[in-house]
Amino acid sequence: MSADTAKINAAMAALDYVREGMTVGLGSGSTAAHFVRLLGERVRQGLVVLGVPTSEATRSLAEAAGVPLVDIERVTRIHVSVDGADEIDPGFNLIKGAGGALLREKIVAAAADHFIVIGDDTKPVPVLGAFPLPIEVTPFGFSLTAGRIFEALRETGCRGDDVTLRPGAEEALPYITDNGNIILDAAAQMIPNPHALAAALKRIPGVVEHGLFLDMARTVIIGRDEDALIQEKE
Ligand code: A5P
Repeated sequence: MSADTAKINAAMAALDYVREGMTVGLGSGSTAAHFVRLLGERVRQGLVVLGVPTSEATRSLAEAAGVPLVDIERVTRIHVSVDGADEIDPGFNLIKGAGGALLREKIVAAAADHFIVIGDDTKPVPVLGAFPLPIEVTPFGFSLTAGRIFEALRETGCRGDDVTLRPGAEEALPYITDNGNIILDAAAQMIPNPHALAAALKRIPGVVEHGLFLDMARTVIIGRDEDALIQEKE
């Protein structure tokens, strides 16, 4: 099975949740990109929607795909937001942020009436943590912040505690987010208590946001070769 076929099938299934007149959160990453392109096709066929992009990359993609956008400062309601994930646990808790857009993704997902996660069958996991957890931090004092994150990983029982600065395109420079911050990737390996870790990370002053998206997703769509498996939160 081509991973792309699975991602496209997931994105197509998510389109069924989009109705005329909706304001739609547009996620970031390769799976969300398929959704944006498919939504653009529907717009060309006459569907009226407004998109709220979660990254500058998605903004460019949506503009190219012909999806009309609305400035987030003018938005009063987001009906549905569709985004990918790096890991999805059985309770629909997620790790997100491999693409570095986690802060805007979380703001948009939290504001949405309905947050839909799309992915292929590499995304569901029994326990979160094998995928390094992205944490957006301020450049100021990031070494001290990394030390506090290390402590938070230990205190909340994570198996791993390695915290690394994400490199940019030029290895000598760090990756810079759309918000002018940097990303620390925490190799927790296994996160036995995601809520405890999320709370501990939120208490660290230099942490702007982390990639644990807990109790937010209502629908998870896993694309397969021929179709997509849709699961709704009970
Ligand atoms: C972007 O910052 C991420 O949260 C992505 O949504 C996530 O990494 C999934 O990306 P793919 O769809 O490319 O796997």
